[in-house]
Amino acid sequence: MSTTKNKKTQKAAPAAEKKPAVAVQAELVNVPPVEAVETQETPKAAPAPEIKVVPKKKILFVASEAAPFIATGGLAEVIGSLSKALAKSDAYDVRVIIPLYQDIKKEYRKDFKFIGNIFVPLSWRNQYCGIFAYEANNVKFYFVDNEYYFKRPGCYGYYDDGERFAFFCRGVMEILSFIGFYPDILHCHDWQAALAALYLKTIYCFRPEYQFIRAVFTIHNIEYQGKYSLDILEDLFGISNRFRYLVEYDRCINLMKGAIECCERFSTVSPTYAGEIKDPYYSHGLDPIIRRNEFKLCGILNGIDPDYYDPATDKALFANYDAKNIAPKAVCKEELQRMLNLPVKPDTPIIAMITRLVAHKGLDLVKEVIEQVLRQDVQFVLLGTGDSSYENYFSDLARRYQGKVVSIISFNSDLSRKIYAGADLFLMPSKSEPCGLSQMIASRYGTVAIVRETGGLRDSITPYGAGGNGFTFHDYNAYDMLYVINEAIGVYHDKEAWSALRKKAMETDFSWAKSATYYEGLYLGMLK
Ligand code: GLC
Repeated sequence: MSTTKNKKTQKAAPAAEKKPAVAVQAELVNVPPVEAVETQETPKAAPAPEIKVVPKKKILFVASEAAPFIATGGLAEVIGSLSKALAKSDAYDVRVIIPLYQDIKKEYRKDFKFIGNIFVPLSWRNQYCGIFAYEANNVKFYFVDNEYYFKRPGCYGYYDDGERFAFFCRGVMEILSFIGFYPDILHCHDWQAALAALYLKTIYCFRPEYQFIRAVFTIHNIEYQGKYSLDILEDLFGISNRFRYLVEYDRCINLMKGAIECCERFSTVSPTYAGEIKDPYYSHGLDPIIRRNEFKLCGILNGIDPDYYDPATDKALFANYDAKNIAPKAVCKEELQRMLNLPVKPDTPIIAMITRLVAHKGLDLVKEVIEQVLRQDVQFVLLGTGDSSYENYFSDLARRYQGKVVSIISFNSDLSRKIYAGADLFLMPSKSEPCGLSQMIASRYGTVAIVRETGGLRDSITPYGAGGNGFTFHDYNAYDMLYVINEAIGVYHDKEAWSALRKKAMETDFSWAKSATYYEGLYLGMLK
């Protein structure tokens, strides 16, 4: 078996050399200063400046989802938009690898190129692994194919998720040698990609081509850690028992813990969350590990793709607008009210929530005081799916407050953007929020955010009272939230203050411009 694999590797290598992944960037060095050039009797041409070739830095994102191909949440958006932002610079060769799920959008899939297949060893298994490629915005995407693992609806939630993502991560490591691409930075995102860092440090770094690969691990949400029984370490994950100390935590395998131990650096998606996860209130049990590894932790705030989320061009909207010409937003509101069978009332504020219906989104606070909010002249629109208790609660609320409350228990990206554009206030009272993208999208669409000061919400929304771009409250307390909702409704009715605030929200820079440079700093610091 290994001979076949070697043959394939050898076959692939020359192709990779012919068409080097590494384009070059030239830099002039040692150009002598004018006054230092010696005068000679017969003047000679100045020596040609020495050209130092700086190879592109190679970055590989390993993740379980990526927009626009497949998305269940913010992770996918970050993988899609951050890779695009980094690839704008000539200094980087950015690639992304994800599983080839059945639900990957057909419009993209039809253009994927099959570039070969290998067999992936995983403990006693030896599994087929097809490799597909696609390029967009200067980023090369790879898709790992195995129908047994990935030809199923959705991305997660199967009894064998551990084995599926172990196969994926082991496949990633094998694919590197097949395509002849050994990244400088292996950037693994969330627990599903944690094993790539573990395999690198326990198996592959002993091979010469892999020895200089540095690993970064990013926590998008510490709640999901990838926990499994210790008995399957060798048999399922193919990790030798002598490395058990790396992954063992609380008498379980904990893949997130393993990646934190193995990587050179790890990060989270906002500076505030980086501080919070050292605290048991936020850490889901992992705070001792975070604190012990704090020296290699940083928090970098996510951005959004300003081209994709642009009210001036978004085709899903009833009308387009921007901060300078905001009047058409009123059309978006009117049409949204009509579409949702709400009374068309231009001066009644619409409070919207677009969220997964799970506890950490702060829905208990909403349940506690929403009926007090509804005593006023407001409309409330909710879009999302999740735990059935919340789904039932909000469906029931809509039945009881017809003409005032609309609950749409599903998710649809077009509709979500119609709501971002048509609403006036966006409520996001999360108990914890690593970063959150919805508050940024809402702000960009001129819908003012009301958030709890936690994680990325605190880092992106600043309080109106202090000249900020939204409304915030500190404690996880329903009445504190009610207080700022009422404050927001008050400001809404003050036309002048409201239009200034809305403009400020729209003009806040939520792009990757700044944060991408922080990632660059992180990577370059590791390559010194
Ligand atoms: C997770 C977090 C969310 C974050 C996203 C992208 O979904 O819950 O807060 O914005 O990842 O990093």
